[in-house]
Amino acid sequence: MTVLSGGDAAPGAREFRTAMAAFATGVTVVTTTAPDGERYGMTVNAFSSVSLDPLLLLVCLRADSRGLDLIDGSGVFTVNVLSEEQQDLSQWFADRRRPADSSVFEGLPVGRGATGCPVLLGAAASFDCRLHGLLGAGDHVVVTGSVVALTHRPGARPLLFHAGGYGRLAGEAAPAHPRLRVVPD
Ligand SMILES: Cc1cc2nc3c(=O)[nH]c(=O)nc-3n(C[C@H](O)[C@H](O)[C@H](O)COP(=O)(O)O)c2cc1C
Repeated sequence: MTVLSGGDAAPGAREFRTAMAAFATGVTVVTTTAPDGERYGMTVNAFSSVSLDPLLLLVCLRADSRGLDLIDGSGVFTVNVLSEEQQDLSQWFADRRRPADSSVFEGLPVGRGATGCPVLLGAAASFDCRLHGLLGAGDHVVVTGSVVALTHRPGARPLLFHAGGYGRLAGEAAPAHPRLRVVPD
């Protein structure tokens, strides 16, 4: 059924969320390493490329998220684009009961990017960034980053998110060509 919203009634948050869920996205885990070495990650699908010259990207983080505080403090972050085998990582890094310290990465294949932030091995791509800007926008903050290094696995298939659920690309899996350039821990 098509639900129309218009006329006198302004759309509410629920309608907005539901309609936005029509927009299929990938899923990322945004990581950072605090100056004291503590490592952190959170699941984020509000991610976009912004500029080619210079290389800039953005993520939108809830204003009250720990991730925003930590990135503001460290000045660096990495966006890990999850591959279809990494749905469990999406759920893990979105779970509010996950450990608040570095042990959240225990047992996970993780390396260190150029900025020192955690890079999730097996991700389809990872973008190492220096914090470029913070723009308050309602209950979220738009975080822009200058890309200083990246890794990309051209054969990796992305994890998708659509209508509140996870998905995968249909069809044959393309051959994987691992090309990760990270320093293992
Ligand atoms: C698929 C998916 C996408 C998400 N995208 C975002 C997002 O774009 N921005 C955001 O602030 N939180 C997003 N979240 C929610 C956060 O991952 C979650 O609230 C997390 O616990 C926040 O970290 P914190 O508890 O350390 O503040 C998403 C969760 C899921 C499952």
